[in-house]
Amino acid sequence: MSEPVSLIVNGMMHAFPLPRETPLLYVLRNDLGLNGPKFGCGLGECGACTVLVDGLAARACVLKLGSVAGRSVTTLEGLGTLERPHPVQRAFIAEQAAQCGYCLNGMIMTAASFLARHPDPSLDEVREALRYNLCRCGTHVEILRAVMRAAA
Ligand code: FES
Repeated sequence: MSEPVSLIVNGMMHAFPLPRETPLLYVLRNDLGLNGPKFGCGLGECGACTVLVDGLAARACVLKLGSVAGRSVTTLEGLGTLERPHPVQRAFIAEQAAQCGYCLNGMIMTAASFLARHPDPSLDEVREALRYNLCRCGTHVEILRAVMRAAA
């Protein structure tokens, strides 16, 4: 049996006695019950599973548990709460930027990571930042509006 893998998730240290190759998304959802990150394509292409690793957006379905050992992972649950939503979450609610909602985790986590580094973006920069997050409902206009609202 290999050593447990330790990492910080939403501010709390956890140790997982699991193979290092286990996808981070499975650990978050199955072992910690954090269902913010979604399983979409499982191939790193849709963005539904996005989390922050040391503050940067990353796709949890293709990240191996061992690759985040000792690092800090933030999920949607760690970004804000019902009582104190993150500004990006507030803006998504204000703009009603959801249809089915499946992509929203990825949209919000990617936007939060992007805005932390680019607090005053142009609409084109936001569009580029979210380019690889897919929404099958076509809610892109509202999503872009929400991110611009969060930046304002
Ligand atoms: Fe991870 Fe699609 S589920 S990118």
